[in-house]
Amino acid sequence: MKSCSQNTAKGKKVFIQTYGCQMNEYDTDKMFEVLRHENYFHTDSQEDADLIILNTCSIREKAEHKVYSELGRLRDLKTANPELKIGVGGCVAQQEGEAILRRDSNVDFVFGTDNLFELPRMLRKVHKGEKITKTQRYDRQKVRNFIPEYTYQKLQHSGIKAHLTITKGCNNYCSFCVVPVTRGLEVSREPDQIIAEAERLVSTGTREICLLGQNVNSYKANGVDFVELLQRLDKLDGLQRLRFTSPHPKDFHEKLADAIASLPSLCEQLHLPLQSGSDRVLRRMRRWYTMETYYQKVAMLRERLPNATLSTDLIVGFPGETDEEFEMTIEAVRKIRFDLIYSFKYSPRPGTRAANYPGHLSESVKSERLKILLEIQEKIVREKFQALVGTEQEVLIEGNHHRKANTAAGRTRGNHPVFIKNSTKKAGDLMTVLITKANQNSLEAVPSSAIYSPGI
Ligand code: 5AD
Ligand code: SF4
Repeated sequence: MKSCSQNTAKGKKVFIQTYGCQMNEYDTDKMFEVLRHENYFHTDSQEDADLIILNTCSIREKAEHKVYSELGRLRDLKTANPELKIGVGGCVAQQEGEAILRRDSNVDFVFGTDNLFELPRMLRKVHKGEKITKTQRYDRQKVRNFIPEYTYQKLQHSGIKAHLTITKGCNNYCSFCVVPVTRGLEVSREPDQIIAEAERLVSTGTREICLLGQNVNSYKANGVDFVELLQRLDKLDGLQRLRFTSPHPKDFHEKLADAIASLPSLCEQLHLPLQSGSDRVLRRMRRWYTMETYYQKVAMLRERLPNATLSTDLIVGFPGETDEEFEMTIEAVRKIRFDLIYSFKYSPRPGTRAANYPGHLSESVKSERLKILLEIQEKIVREKFQALVGTEQEVLIEGNHHRKANTAAGRTRGNHPVFIKNSTKKAGDLMTVLITKANQNSLEAVPSSAIYSPGI
């Protein structure tokens, strides 16, 4: 979680709990920014807070449950401090709206994914004792400018790494996914607005930007497409690294593969969600690609960059998935050898097509399939991490090891976490390291030769 200020002298204190994806983390940052203008300051302690906001996620059932159990825990705080205000934002709020107020009388306000800039107005009403629900969607033009006047004001230090949303919403309606319901249809932000936000981030110390969108590579605004946007961002002075997540395989083309291979700041890393290794399941998921085309896309990347990091999302136990179809996912994992997999048990989501498909599988079948997948992937990751030992890598330092002295922590261009022994480098420095050891989830290294150290 990020702070909006260290100074708590006069203002009120806000605690924001973020669930789910990077898009929500980004929205949380924006909430802090909006609230800072209302004289709210960040606190790490719920007990200290005058305002608690839960920025929720509804992508899977488990994520949604967490929100309701957290609200249950907050009941005691509200009893102890009746002045405490509690708000629920994000995807659960968008979908459930007023029902949250009915379900939990301690909640004061509920706001949707388009409405975070209305927080000041909502809070004024809440302080007058009103209960508020604000989940309306805005028309295209308003959403285009969904980060209005605050965009151009200088942030306090914004961190070595930052997220930057370039599109919101999604038009794909994959049959399992609730995002088009909770985030609405896809809207691309104006390129000039994105560049201005990136410039502002770099001017306050950011060295790495990760562009966010549900389907980033279908970005198009004012005649500028995704690759052209990347080209413009790549030219920014002081921006060392650029990443993006997530592209849809159906929109991954040669032009983007060329950009990853040629733009200096764009890291050699791709997250390409596969979801399933079976064509029949992919069709029923409404993913609009086949395994043959997916393999071609992987080849497109690896022909240009054989060592690029490739990660993916996979769902096991989709309705009607047979043993053979699950085996096809395993086969794809074995063949492609992803560096990282985010794997999920299928979870029916209200308002999605797949929720009404026949053939829902039992929890135990889903768990068993997930276990098999994780075991196979664990071995692949171990081998791939081991293969990095002895190589030289460029690392962007993000800080120090939380326990070990003289040990810097950072990431490679491929996004592998690395700890560098005997390093005096500071956050924001770039350095070349020699990888000396592979642990389960991280690499160890020693300094090679410093190539750049601007300090901050
Ligand atoms: N059940 C399980 N996993 C899901 N995802 C999205 N919706 C569901 C669902 N209903 C996964 C997909 C997606 C990632 C962000 O979450 O793999 O790529
Ligand atoms: Fe959901 Fe599919 Fe859109 Fe991704 S592309 S956000 S999985 S609907």
